[in-house]
Amino acid sequence: MAQVSIRKVVKAYEGNVQAVKGIDLEIADEEFVVLVGPSGCGKSTTLRMVAGLEEITSGEIWIGGDVVNDVPPRDRDIAMVFQNYALYPHMSVFDNMAFGLKLRKFPKDEIKRRVDEAARILDIQALLERKPKALSGGQRQRVAMGRAIVRNPKVFLFDEPLSNLDAKLRVQMRTEIKKVHQTIPTTTVYVTHDQVEAMTLADRVVVMNHGVIEQVGPPQELYHNPATRFVAGFIGSPAMNFLPVRVLDDGGLKVELANGVKLAVPPQRVDRYGPYKGRQMTLGLRPEHLTEIRDTEKPNVVRIDCMVDVVEPMGMETLVHFFIDGEPVCARIDPVTHSAPNEVLPLAADLNNMHLIDNESGKVV
Ligand SMILES: Nc1ncnc2c1ncn2[C@@H]1O[C@H](COP(=O)(O)OP(=O)(O)O)[C@@H](O)[C@H]1O
Ligand SMILES: [Mg+2]
Repeated sequence: MAQVSIRKVVKAYEGNVQAVKGIDLEIADEEFVVLVGPSGCGKSTTLRMVAGLEEITSGEIWIGGDVVNDVPPRDRDIAMVFQNYALYPHMSVFDNMAFGLKLRKFPKDEIKRRVDEAARILDIQALLERKPKALSGGQRQRVAMGRAIVRNPKVFLFDEPLSNLDAKLRVQMRTEIKKVHQTIPTTTVYVTHDQVEAMTLADRVVVMNHGVIEQVGPPQELYHNPATRFVAGFIGSPAMNFLPVRVLDDGGLKVELANGVKLAVPPQRVDRYGPYKGRQMTLGLRPEHLTEIRDTEKPNVVRIDCMVDVVEPMGMETLVHFFIDGEPVCARIDPVTHSAPNEVLPLAADLNNMHLIDNESGKVV
């Protein structure tokens, strides 16, 4: 049982390089929070400060109602799982999992009870006598998690725990981690650079960039209501399209693409975008909100005629890539629709799902 609070936390390395620039984050008891962002944005530094492995330059970290700034890692009641799970090669799986408890002088039967319980949750009961070298990557990852679980800590900290696994195993272990949290809902802070991992695991996703938090929210909210161009472009794959537009009044509020196509702003957004009339802005539109126009339907829909560059059939959908006035654009279309390189494909834009971005501030308006 523990909340974690990160308050105005700064980490400066020598030469006054600020890796973390005064971040605030309140994590609820039992919550699964994922820190995500590009390499070097300060995720690991933040996690290591929560763990006590890295000193805080200024600010406060609270775990379960206590300031832990000066509490050494072993007394913080946290358990950490790294990318490199560092099992002891000469010890059996049981002993690897039991090691931390033995050090803390837990009674033998309590150790056995906890290891058996963790092994049951992780489905590795049959492996307890094996040495790490006789395990697959996924099994080793489970043992590393088991070692954290037996501690019954207040907080789990994960730093890119799946990065060493191949793609298929990564997806499988992702589900396992989620299942473990459903079984034992311990407060968790999980670091990854992979936005799909972040979206699938998190109760709330924290998007970091250059040592600051860009946005915090549930996955769906970040996807549908990104606050900044950075978040809009980082969350979602294939990424959101960004197109330069001019906002204008032309028998109603419209946005004009660089190729001259004018698209009407939906009535419920006119008040919001009206103040930007006359401005150069950026239109953000996800690939699924650019869809093919079938001949017979909606004769008055505005067509964006695209010269197809590359077609990528994915099975349940097809991605088509093209350019609008030099800007690369991707659309998700129905796989039954005919599309081929160097042919024109008429597309419609669903502006009910548009994002309008201020070029100076980078904020979604
Ligand atoms: N010991 C250190 N000394 C100096 N700079 C560091 C040190 N550790 C990390 N940094 C810098 O701090 C920034 C954040 O690093 P890190 O938290 O590891 O990023 P992430 O985990 O998001 O990839 C990076 O620019 C990195 O180079
Ligand atoms: Mg890192």
